[in-house]
Amino acid sequence: MKVSIDLDKCAGHARCFAASPDLFDLDDDGYALNAEIDVPAGQEATALEAVAACPERAIESH
Ligand code: F3S
Repeated sequence: MKVSIDLDKCAGHARCFAASPDLFDLDDDGYALNAEIDVPAGQEATALEAVAACPERAIESH
């Protein structure tokens, strides 16, 4: 499983990191840094929480 982040849509809400701090890296202003993240086995649930938590709907799982 992977998650993609549309960095142009990201508005720095940092809720992805709050939901899944092991997966998401943010810059100093709270914006997501990585456009694509490989989700390790066992972290799918928190990854999906992060997808649901983003108010900009910038994150997709696939
Ligand atoms: Fe950006 Fe959404 Fe995370 S706005 S910092 S991708 S919660």
